[in-house]
Amino acid sequence: MLPHFRRLVSIILLLAISSTLTFAQPFRCTSTATCDALVDYVSPNDTTLSAINTLFQVKNLLSILGANKLPLSTPSNFPVAAKRTIKIPFPCICNNLTGISNRQPNYTVVPGDYLYHIAAEVFAGLVTVQQIQEVNNIANASLISVGQKLWIPLPCSCDDVDGQKVLHYGYVVPAGSSVEGIAQQYNTSRDTLLRLNNLTSPNDLKADAILDVPLRACSSEVRNTSQDYPLLVPNGTYVFTANNCVRCNCEAANNWILQCESSSLINSSCRPVQCEGQENFYLGNTSFSGCNRRTCAYAGYNLQNILTTLDLQSTCPASSSIGLQGSRWNFLLISIHVMLICLPFLKRVAIFLM
Ligand SMILES: *[C@@H]1O[C@H](CO)[C@@H](O)[C@H](O)[C@H]1NC(C)=O
Ligand SMILES: *[C@@H]1O[C@H](CO)[C@@H](O)[C@H](O)[C@H]1NC(C)=O
Ligand SMILES: *[C@@H]1O[C@H](CO)[C@@H](O)[C@H](O)[C@H]1NC(C)=O
Ligand SMILES: *[C@@H]1O[C@H](CO)[C@@H](O)[C@H](O)[C@H]1NC(C)=O
Ligand SMILES: *[C@@H]1O[C@H](CO)[C@@H](O)[C@H](O)[C@H]1NC(C)=O
Ligand SMILES: *[C@@H]1O[C@H](CO)[C@@H](O)[C@H](O)[C@H]1NC(C)=O
Ligand SMILES: *[C@@H]1O[C@H](CO)[C@@H](O)[C@H](O)[C@H]1NC(C)=O
Ligand SMILES: *[C@@H]1O[C@H](CO)[C@@H](O)[C@H](O)[C@H]1NC(C)=O
Ligand SMILES: *[C@@H]1O[C@H](CO)[C@@H](O)[C@H](O)[C@H]1NC(C)=O
Ligand SMILES: *[C@@H]1O[C@H](CO)[C@@H](O)[C@H](O)[C@H]1NC(C)=O
Repeated sequence: MLPHFRRLVSIILLLAISSTLTFAQPFRCTSTATCDALVDYVSPNDTTLSAINTLFQVKNLLSILGANKLPLSTPSNFPVAAKRTIKIPFPCICNNLTGISNRQPNYTVVPGDYLYHIAAEVFAGLVTVQQIQEVNNIANASLISVGQKLWIPLPCSCDDVDGQKVLHYGYVVPAGSSVEGIAQQYNTSRDTLLRLNNLTSPNDLKADAILDVPLRACSSEVRNTSQDYPLLVPNGTYVFTANNCVRCNCEAANNWILQCESSSLINSSCRPVQCEGQENFYLGNTSFSGCNRRTCAYAGYNLQNILTTLDLQSTCPASSSIGLQGSRWNFLLISIHVMLICLPFLKRVAIFLM
């Protein structure tokens, strides 16, 4: 009798699991690239930013601050009340036509854990038990052991949308939302949201679903050979890149052009980055000559260098121009800096190579 009873209980449990966790459906991802993505975490308990940072293994707290439009001075023990939503930045990889977080976060199993608790409660339903089992090759969900590391596959995508590079944002739908409202809030269209999320009608939208919302990013000059390509920064947010030595932010009001500067002021291991051949002209500097604006823009980084490019833009009023107003010449530039991003970092690389 007892084994039957057990089986019955586990079937009931399984049904309960699949009915409460139907919303974490994977996002389509057909590209072969990796990219950055965002997902909403609705914290189940009172917690702090640094605890969230640790749980999701975000590379640094600055990334969370930037994604959430929080000031740089926010302390790491900043309290996050239960039910508050925090946007989590993470690296995305496409795998078998769906996008998942790239080998992170790794969650370490603690005594008393079981997969349903980890999926539904600790990670607030951003993944399903089945998805955790799949990527970690766990055949039997009850067989996990204390100390075991589990890769938690968060939903994401790297696909272009309507021919544009976008940042895919896993938006947790609040009760009472409409597809139109969300589209308007995030400056996209109803039809794009329906198509991306495989919804046949706006009425299919359900509270707590994780909706794939494409966020337009500022245009940048980052080369496709750079480690941070494509650097996708949506309106109102900022990121730190090039080993935290460059800070970039995006403002729609600024023509959707990414603005980057050296973070030497807040990190003394970073140095100002000079635009090559440009005396006293550094990354982020702008100068005017008549109505031509010259900017030293960020072009990516590699092991040794932070790359820049000189941007020229005409701000002439239409009448006085020869038809080039508002256009932006991306000069072939240019600059390979002998200046090292960071000596200690290179030393480590050198030791590693030896
Ligand atoms: C890819 O996904 C399909 C459908 O979800 C599945 O049947 C197939 O086994 C997967 N292939 C790999 C290599 O994971
Ligand atoms: C997570 O674990 C996997 C497999 O154990 C490993 O390949 C990966 O590098 C780890 N990721 C992080 C961010 O520690
Ligand atoms: C939230 O609190 C409950 C009850 O104290 C606990 O079971 C659960 O693990 C906590 N969740 C997280 C993510 O800490
Ligand atoms: C999973 O493991 C548990 C505990 O060892 C065992 O009782 C159960 O029969 C296993 N289930 C399957 C489907 O193998
Ligand atoms: C996005 O915003 C711009 C300016 O606010 C507006 O002109 C445009 O129509 C919006 N796009 C969509 C798809 O709503
Ligand atoms: C889209 O939804 C339909 C049913 O609504 C389903 O049959 C199909 O597999 C879904 N496609 C994807 C890519 O999820
Ligand atoms: C990278 O950019 C160069 C020139 O800008 C282009 O020729 C090349 O096809 C691009 N490569 C990829 C993989 O997109
Ligand atoms: C960009 O963000 C600002 C606030 O950060 C907001 O006022 C503005 O409406 C946003 N613009 C678009 C087009 O999303
Ligand atoms: C400061 O810059 C160094 C070198 O790039 C980097 O390793 C470190 O993480 C940065 N520190 C902070 C607090 O951003
Ligand atoms: C140019 O950039 C440097 C380094 O970031 C900065 O210290 C300086 O104030 C900037 N100059 C102007 C005129 O913006």
